[in-house]
Amino acid sequence: MSSTSSSTLRADQIWLDGKMVKWDEGQVHVMTHALHYGLGVFEGIRAYKTHDGRLAVFRLREHIRRLLDSAHIIQLQMPYSEDELVEACLELLRRQKTLFANGAYLRPVAFMGDGAMGLGAVNPTRVSVTAWDWGAYLGDKGLKEGIRAKVSSFTRMHVNVNMVRGKITGQYVNSILAKREVVNAGYDEAILLDISGFVAEASGENIFMVNKKGIIKTPPLSSPILDGITRDTVLQLLRDSGRSVDEVTFTRDALYIGNEIFFTGTAAEITPVREVDNRTVGTGQVGPITRFVQETYFRTVRGQEPRYAEWLTYV
Ligand SMILES: Cc1ncc(COP(=O)(O)O)c(C=O)c1O
Repeated sequence: MSSTSSSTLRADQIWLDGKMVKWDEGQVHVMTHALHYGLGVFEGIRAYKTHDGRLAVFRLREHIRRLLDSAHIIQLQMPYSEDELVEACLELLRRQKTLFANGAYLRPVAFMGDGAMGLGAVNPTRVSVTAWDWGAYLGDKGLKEGIRAKVSSFTRMHVNVNMVRGKITGQYVNSILAKREVVNAGYDEAILLDISGFVAEASGENIFMVNKKGIIKTPPLSSPILDGITRDTVLQLLRDSGRSVDEVTFTRDALYIGNEIFFTGTAAEITPVREVDNRTVGTGQVGPITRFVQETYFRTVRGQEPRYAEWLTYV
């Protein structure tokens, strides 16, 4: 599953430009500048039901800070402070606590609104926060048994084209082209290479691999990749457990002969990859490092790892 549908459990309210409105009132004009040119920034954030039955948002402040950084990068004026946006997310969930007792996906988005048209226009920024119930992004089976990935013919854009420290709406056309290409060919997710041919990331996830010597690798932040909050979480979980991780570039054939591959992302969580370009990864089963990361990640987001308690904001 990779899209919301009308059957998705969703909040009956939306935080829009500082006010709570009914879901159906979350409308914008067709002359919205961002709709034409893609000048917007967004976040994907998850709230989980914790082991004691409460609801907690995972690394909320880090996500809101990245949203503000993304806006700063594209010079999108942001009318709300970090605290106000954090509060908007929490207030939306507080109002829907029963509906989202089992967790929720939060989607803050800020974009250039309507007014003047043309590339030089500067219109007021519109901001909304929406919430819905989003299950396993790459499917429950994928989360459990691993997915089939394919290297896309579309390249992750050069760092002077894609502002890689930003989560910018218009940039996602590149991801969508890659995703559609491989889904149409019968695969679950696309891996994009950088312009030199090194592995960058998946269409909406960062990538980790474990080679035959047991060395764990992930592309460095100097690659054209998003500085994923789940990537950062996984780096900390692995390093705190005494394992080292190399942030280095590697080639697609390194993936082919690796023992384990997994994707990390707020939506996809920790998704094992069992096949790349029709080559079985390792034994084709979820490997021990992937299993460790997945289990520790889910324990962390559910409040069962006291050392990471500060990553949780209870609603
Ligand atoms: C292109 C891309 N890479 C990586 C990620 C993973 O980032 P995060 O772990 O912060 O969700 C995402 C999702 O936001 C993404 O869209």
